[in-house]
Amino acid sequence: MNDNSKLKSDKMRLLHVSAECYPMAKAGGLADVVGALPKYQNLLGHHAMVIMPMHRTSYLIHHHWETVYKGSFSFGNQTVDFTVIKEKTNELGFELYCVDINGLLDRMQIYGYDDDAERFLAFQIAVMEWILHFNQIPDIIHVHDHHAGLIPFMLQHCFKYKKLSAIKTILTIHNAQYQGCMEWTKSNLMPAYDEWKSGLLEWNHQINSLACAVKCVNKVNTVSKNYMLELMNHSNGLEYLFQQEKEKCTGILNGIDYHVWNPEQDELIQTHFNHTNLEFGKSENKKQLCNQFGFDENLPLFIFIGRLVFEKSADLLADTILRSFEKNSKQFNFLVLGNGDSGIELALSAIHEKCFGYYHSTFEFNEQLSHQMYAGADFLLMPSRVEPCGLNQLYAMRYGTIPIVRKTGGLKDTVIDFEDEDGFGITFDHISVEEIVHSMKRAMLLYENSPMVNFLRKKMMTINTSWEKRTADYTELYKSVI
Ligand code: GLC
Repeated sequence: MNDNSKLKSDKMRLLHVSAECYPMAKAGGLADVVGALPKYQNLLGHHAMVIMPMHRTSYLIHHHWETVYKGSFSFGNQTVDFTVIKEKTNELGFELYCVDINGLLDRMQIYGYDDDAERFLAFQIAVMEWILHFNQIPDIIHVHDHHAGLIPFMLQHCFKYKKLSAIKTILTIHNAQYQGCMEWTKSNLMPAYDEWKSGLLEWNHQINSLACAVKCVNKVNTVSKNYMLELMNHSNGLEYLFQQEKEKCTGILNGIDYHVWNPEQDELIQTHFNHTNLEFGKSENKKQLCNQFGFDENLPLFIFIGRLVFEKSADLLADTILRSFEKNSKQFNFLVLGNGDSGIELALSAIHEKCFGYYHSTFEFNEQLSHQMYAGADFLLMPSRVEPCGLNQLYAMRYGTIPIVRKTGGLKDTVIDFEDEDGFGITFDHISVEEIVHSMKRAMLLYENSPMVNFLRKKMMTINTSWEKRTADYTELYKSVI
């Protein structure tokens, strides 16, 4: 890679390695973070880039790409050819690179294939090969989640990459539920490494990519301080590791991209507004939604947006909605948007008839509808079992929608109950249908006090949750290892 830009001494060259990046490919919040943080880092004068697998998405098809590197590597007893392509215009505010490996990475889905272990292993080796040919190496390689977790090990212990071993590494954990475990036989696919170090690859008699990254990187961070504390006690078998590595572990909250999430300019919502005319803006947007779904706009409107999976407690939604309707004689509306577990989708479809006129669920990933829902709803429900940071509550707050959250992970760090000092949201402790129904009841009572609701909305809308603020924390983290 040829780059003549002269970076000032405190400005760094940063390479993010991730499986997802919005808008190229998104399965969850990881994509939003990797699609925003580098842009804000560049605004601060750093040189931040992203490399990811070349998934066959519509962004790939509708953009122009140039080939910047072609290479090959040994993968067990095969030779794998790969190409690195770059989005030509840098329209995202950073250089976006993708690794194409014919047959392995150029697929429609990001995850979920039987050969995911091989796919992400090959991706990481290709990234290492590419970096080996840089004219100017990065100061920091920032790896996200387990899909990039073997890179810090390869950097230090694969003979071939020894000359890169001075590069510092950071791991951000967005979700420690998934750890990239594989059988030892897969170690044959790795480039030759110092066998004395093989213990670094291992956790519980397997190769564990996330554990390996925690051991090998210079610093580990999770996307909220509270989630890091939780990992010390509950992390699917990695508790002892996090306790051992405590000194290099920290938490930095995610921000949100104010260029994308701005109710004053958002092209995906019907009526623009800000904290000075929020009453008007909220009610116009609510009207639009209620018309679309045949709801009575005078009733409070609750929404759930997200993956319909156990982690998000989506399995409790259908029951919660039914019970709440029974208890409150249908005095509210409820909209669900998201897809996931087919059993959960089935349960949410099954209640349509009973709740007709008050409830609707849409099982898809629909960016436009989600923005309109944040803009038009009164309350966002997030009863997550696990939530490392959570972005939806931050989007909701920005659009004046009161979040109802379980006090876990980043939800605990970002939402304060309105009855507490400086509060604005509704929080609860335990995962049960009863507690969620009770919290919704509190919301309905609050809704009757519209001056209070408007006061809380205004308060939330003026809290600064932008990446601008958080990016500085990452700069400090990088500086601490350089
Ligand atoms: C994952 C987590 C979510 C977090 C996001 C971005 O999707 O589940 O809580 O906000 O990553 O870091």
